[in-house]
Amino acid sequence: MLIHSAEFIISNTDYHKCPVTKLPEFAFIGRSNVGKSSVINMLTQRKNLAKISSTPGKTQTINHFLINQSWYLVDLPGYGYATISLKVKQGWSKMIENYLIHRENLFCTFILIDSRLRPQKIDLEFITWIGEQGLPMALLFTKCDKLKKGELARSKKNYTDALTETWEELPPFFITSSEKRIGRNEVLDFIGKAIKQT
Ligand code: GTP
Ligand code: MG
Repeated sequence: MLIHSAEFIISNTDYHKCPVTKLPEFAFIGRSNVGKSSVINMLTQRKNLAKISSTPGKTQTINHFLINQSWYLVDLPGYGYATISLKVKQGWSKMIENYLIHRENLFCTFILIDSRLRPQKIDLEFITWIGEQGLPMALLFTKCDKLKKGELARSKKNYTDALTETWEELPPFFITSSEKRIGRNEVLDFIGKAIKQT
């Protein structure tokens, strides 16, 4: 899958106002600061298409980016951001939940996981929730440049072990680094195949 064009379309707090379209859509979700916006920039090879920050809580809306005039990448706010108020957090959760449940052209949700951490309850719960909704998902390890090869393998095993406790079949799993552009081709091939299957 080659990317010829990538443009920001709209930013929303209400899923009703997302673009009316039947074009395939791929969303990125995960804890605040895990690297969702950075992955979108890596995939599109654009430095500032999605806004990134070292401070968690940067992305606060649903952001649509139109790729090759034919499909969308969607950047979502993070979950599990400790220092924002409960009320704001609940608002974001509802917004994300509504978007994920109601968006009919959503082909796949990439759940991003910080490769440096041991399996986190909040991520496992989110994966379970997505599974219960019957939504297609793929897991994406981020920031793998921060780990040595052996550490990365161990971290992946910790995750797959934790998941096999509840899941018979594991979702597709990608190892990425936006910093070093690792995993770009694999993720784009996966998207390309998913689009072709329609
Ligand atoms: P929110 O929008 O706040 O939920 O965060 P996000 O998940 O969109 O994360 P974002 O892409 O803004 O990145 C958060 C921080 O992690 C930034 O300081 C990035 O530079 C850094 N970061 C993202 N990806 C990588 C990576 O692959 N490697 C390294 N070393 N740092 C990364
Ligand atoms: Mg972001």
